[in-house]
Amino acid sequence: MHIHKFEKIWLIFGISCLVIFLSVVGVSAFYLGNKPPSCLATINPEKVDETKPFNKPGLHKVEGKEWDYELVYVAQAFSYNPAQVEVPLGAKVKVIATTKDVIHGFEVAGTNINMMLEPGYISEYTTTFDKAGEYLIVCNEYCGSGHHLMFSKIEVVEK
Ligand code: CUA
Repeated sequence: MHIHKFEKIWLIFGISCLVIFLSVVGVSAFYLGNKPPSCLATINPEKVDETKPFNKPGLHKVEGKEWDYELVYVAQAFSYNPAQVEVPLGAKVKVIATTKDVIHGFEVAGTNINMMLEPGYISEYTTTFDKAGEYLIVCNEYCGSGHHLMFSKIEVVEK
């Protein structure tokens, strides 16, 4: 069978790209241990209310950590607990969230916070709120008939 020279170059290029890509992903996943962030911590979805820190949703000041506050959310159809929270301007906040029932989204509109909340898993994201104002948290995973009613608010205020 005769293969044209350019065809050969193109095939070698394509296969090389595939090998390089799979090597990068493979080393990252199996050697460096990188995983999607939502798979690092698990929780029994039936015991969310009794499990720390989800037994006390809301904003908590913490000491001796890389962040100043922990903002804990429990999602369930069709609401977030807390429904509204005030965060001091400039605070470094670790958002910790989970869901009690089905998959929900956790998107803070106008920021780069966008997490998927899966039953049995804890989703976390650390960020600094450096712009005052009101931020809307919306569910961006279809979760049922009340999906479009599911929201919460973060108010970033100067203290
Ligand atoms: Cu919760 Cu859509």
